[in-house]
Amino acid sequence: SLQPVILSGGSGTRLWPLSREAYPKQFLPLTSHHTMLQETVRRLDGLADEHPRQGLHVLEPIVVCNETHRFLVAEQLRLLERRAAAILLEPAGRNTAPALTLAALTATEQGADPVLLVMPADHVIVNEAGFRAAVADGCLLAEQGAVITFGVVPNQPETGYGYIRQGAPLAHEGLQGRAFRLQAFVEKPDRATADDYLASGEYLWNSGIFMLRASVWLRLIERFRGDIFAAVRRAIAGGRRDGEFMRLDAEQFRACPADSIDYAVMEGLSGEGADAEHPAVVLPLDVGWSDVGAWSALWEVREQDEAGNVLEGDAFVHDAANNLVIAQQRMVAAVGVNDLIIVETPDAVLVARKDRAQDVKAVTTFLHEAQ
Ligand code: GDD
Ligand code: MG
Repeated sequence: SLQPVILSGGSGTRLWPLSREAYPKQFLPLTSHHTMLQETVRRLDGLADEHPRQGLHVLEPIVVCNETHRFLVAEQLRLLERRAAAILLEPAGRNTAPALTLAALTATEQGADPVLLVMPADHVIVNEAGFRAAVADGCLLAEQGAVITFGVVPNQPETGYGYIRQGAPLAHEGLQGRAFRLQAFVEKPDRATADDYLASGEYLWNSGIFMLRASVWLRLIERFRGDIFAAVRRAIAGGRRDGEFMRLDAEQFRACPADSIDYAVMEGLSGEGADAEHPAVVLPLDVGWSDVGAWSALWEVREQDEAGNVLEGDAFVHDAANNLVIAQQRMVAAVGVNDLIIVETPDAVLVARKDRAQDVKAVTTFLHEAQ
């Protein structure tokens, strides 16, 4: 069976002032009338019917989030008339490697060993049927022990992503030209390296979506980061189930080292650390993927008018092009300006140049320091 795991612990600081610590971007309806978390849950609907040959049985998702967001998660699933297999509550974020270890231990509790489909809660995928087809491919390979990554063709030397060097095509019947060996995995290279990768045409961006059997993840994290594995086991052993919520031993979990799936395991799994039993594979993904990391990315994925403006709420523009204007409470008018991000909320207003969207993080850093 296929066990979706939704990582929902990020804070989305570059989407301030809509995204707040108490209400980060995955809980906001940024791209449709559903929130990004809800879109992530719904994205898999139809998977089993569309790919009957794989005999997929798709379980309800395991969601891993911060304790403070437990009611947001439960309520957003309830509004979809869905339940979670479990909502795992982290007393503090320790990045994605501990979060996935929590999910893998939970998924194997009753002796099962499902294929985990690890999905960030805050990504956009335009072509959902295309995504489901790639997941069905991934399932075939992950069942046999492979570690599946999904690679996106890069269009700029982004330094906030992982890069995957695509190797030879896999000689797997039925997957011709759709699956490749992963030759190297480099998390967040510096700018010069990213420039080289882009120019070489041999690299894909890591989408942050993974598939592998729960037991495979547990074996890998134990091998590469035994300290994380041990700490998470202790946190679960000292925790307790409370309906659909799983509470951890807070002290043990806080003592767990923080690291990402990418640094802790994926980098090690390529090159020297390659594991014959668990080959790393990349499935190219061409489905309109975006991680909506910043306002500029939201402008890109939203529908624009003839002048390239994206307007939401009571927003008016005149002689203005390629702006994103969100008006939540007051009317916002923009005249004669181009390439701006303007976001109005009841207690804060952001005005930024679109090409400086990454730097919005400076605002939340400032607010943190001022606290
Ligand atoms: N439960 C939980 N706990 N979830 C977390 C935590 C945590 O401590 N930290 C992050 N997450 C969630 C975030 O909400 C997000 O959905 C996902 O895990 C990935 O975390 P990010 O912090 O957004 O990672 P990143 O953007 O720096 O890098 C990852 O994603 C890129 C693509 O968007 C890496 O996988 C890169 O290689 C990849 O290119
Ligand atoms: Mg991210």
